[in-house]
Amino acid sequence: MKIGILISGRGSNMSAIVEAVQSGFIPDSDVTVVVSDKTRAKGLIKAKECGIETLSITRNRRTREEHDAEIVAELKKRDVELICLAGYMRLLSKEFVQTFPNRILNIHPSLLPSFKGLEAQRQAIDYGVKVSGCTVHFVDENLDHGAIIAQRIVEVKDNDAVETLSARILQHEHALYVESIKRIVEGKIKIVGRRVFCE
Ligand code: GRF
Repeated sequence: MKIGILISGRGSNMSAIVEAVQSGFIPDSDVTVVVSDKTRAKGLIKAKECGIETLSITRNRRTREEHDAEIVAELKKRDVELICLAGYMRLLSKEFVQTFPNRILNIHPSLLPSFKGLEAQRQAIDYGVKVSGCTVHFVDENLDHGAIIAQRIVEVKDNDAVETLSARILQHEHALYVESIKRIVEGKIKIVGRRVFCE
């Protein structure tokens, strides 16, 4: 399957996906392109080092729709079949989502629907929850809202700071994301309304 990855920053989830594809853990696939909306995203350098084509497509005062249309055109040009958001910090337009139905994934560092949006790990600590975690979900045009594919629980320890909790969740993010993509590529996921079943 041809995979496109969208990033805005560091790109550690992107690297985990690339490694899983290149090692064959995610079978019969290819990371065709990595797109960033930020020219200076560190992940772009990492992707190039792995031999992957990179594109920097900035918003440039355009509307969300215009910006997304350019990204969609580049993805279509390369016959991308599955899009993985990996720290991509923008909401997608309805047109983008509708072009790739059930073909856009995201990873979020909390157990959704708790702690949507920015700084989910800080929100979890401030709220005082004892467990948090990460969620892989399909993407729709609402923030961190699409149908949930998989979740993993991570304990919040009494001595956790945002940094330590984030680092622990991130390890689980990498594992959960590549496992979820593997299942999708293998056709082992069934979607019934908002419920997603994995074989
Ligand atoms: C991750 O915590 C991810 O869950 C969130 O943004 C962060 C991106 O990290 N959506 P990285 O760029 O993949 O290292």
